[in-house]
Amino acid sequence: MNIMNVDYTTKIPNNVNLAEDRQVLKALEGWHPGYLDWWNDMGPDGFQESLVYLRTAISVDPKGWAKFDYVRMPEYRWGVLLAPQDEQRLVNFGQHKGEKAWQEVPGEYRAMLRRLVVIQGDTEPASVEQQRHLGKTAPSLYDMRNLFQVNVEEGRHLWAMVYLLQKYFGRDGREEADDLLRRRSGDEDAPRMLGAFNEATPDWLSFFMFTFFTDRDGKMQLESLAQSGFDPLSRTCRFMLTEEAHHMFVGETGVSRVLQRTCEAMKAAGIEDPNEIERVRALGVIDLPTMQKKMNLHYSLSLDLFGSEVSTNAANFYNAGLKGRFQETKIDDDHRLTNDIYKVLKMVDGKITLVDEPALTALNMRLRDDYTEDCAKGVERWNKVIEKAGVNFRLELPHTAFHRQIGEFANVQATPKGIIVSEAEWAKVRDDYLPSTADGDFIASLMVPVSEPGKFANWIAAPKVGIDNKPGDFEYVKIAA
Ligand SMILES: [Fe+2]
Ligand SMILES: [Fe+2]
Repeated sequence: MNIMNVDYTTKIPNNVNLAEDRQVLKALEGWHPGYLDWWNDMGPDGFQESLVYLRTAISVDPKGWAKFDYVRMPEYRWGVLLAPQDEQRLVNFGQHKGEKAWQEVPGEYRAMLRRLVVIQGDTEPASVEQQRHLGKTAPSLYDMRNLFQVNVEEGRHLWAMVYLLQKYFGRDGREEADDLLRRRSGDEDAPRMLGAFNEATPDWLSFFMFTFFTDRDGKMQLESLAQSGFDPLSRTCRFMLTEEAHHMFVGETGVSRVLQRTCEAMKAAGIEDPNEIERVRALGVIDLPTMQKKMNLHYSLSLDLFGSEVSTNAANFYNAGLKGRFQETKIDDDHRLTNDIYKVLKMVDGKITLVDEPALTALNMRLRDDYTEDCAKGVERWNKVIEKAGVNFRLELPHTAFHRQIGEFANVQATPKGIIVSEAEWAKVRDDYLPSTADGDFIASLMVPVSEPGKFANWIAAPKVGIDNKPGDFEYVKIAA
């Protein structure tokens, strides 16, 4: 079988030769009905019968890997797709650096690897659950289609992780695969594993911020797992990254379009001061200070996903060759890091201080720094939109210590500028920096569905180009099909 092309002859599309891997095929077919039950219960609410113009992967060739067509979401061909194997590939870091990459799970690292796969796998269905009500308030058919595209691909990412569990981790893997369908975002008894994936996604601005900031955490995690010496994990993550790029596109352009619309409306109404919040809101658009607060919230929640700044787990994963750094093979050093240091932000005597730490235990912090840099570039592109519209306002990422629940700053309160304040002071200023109930109510009031092809809700601008080069009035979702 040609690894580039996807085999659609089995129930589960794949490029891993499942047709000849009977045992794994049987296990996945056994898991399939539970997955469909989960999708029907927890997937997009109210649109399971609609025809959606979706892309489906037909190849893992970087050029032209997808085709577009109308599909009912429960009939989407979720599949198992790995990037092609490179026979020469080596373990590129840690104590096994230079050995041939592993095609089977090394016995001594079995538990660690399983944990990495399960944590990644758990985030995929979680976001589908978080976003399941948004279809009902979509600002356009274009946006609705993008939401559903993200959702079906997160579903496929779950398949990708479940394949690894079923193929390489025996009975434990099967149990973990079942648990991935059992946990639910925000559930009291069986929540998802990571904090940001138990938060609500109540409106479309949250969705765009989530796909910009939280899917970007996903990108960083996938990038570092794509470096793994365990080759099947690396290959899975490499293909997932090609899909992930679209999720971040949805977030970045979504926020851009909101900013553009707000600025246009302000200009048209002759409002020069972005802080005239009530006047701006009266135009039915989202004021820029509220955009900043939403950004503060989603960025800080996403920083928590990187874990503690100093972590022996991170060091162990790296030493073992299981999880590398962002763009590991492009970094010019010994890729063992045994004698290196890395500067970490810590609380020292009540002050935020940069401290030297062994580079190995500081790997979470390093990945988070790479993430921050990636976010900052996107924020600058947003600022260009505001600047071009002639509005005097800049969005800024808040300080690392702001609004944290994990790591060094979990027990302090800091402003977006990184000034430590008392709990009492924080209580007074909290609503200046994070969305208040009133802000949430205002945004909710704008969330009226628009389902006429080519039309957009008042608070968001039309996109520059359509999906798959479709014209502006293309019917991306046939709702009542
Ligand atoms: Fe994903
Ligand atoms: Fe994603």
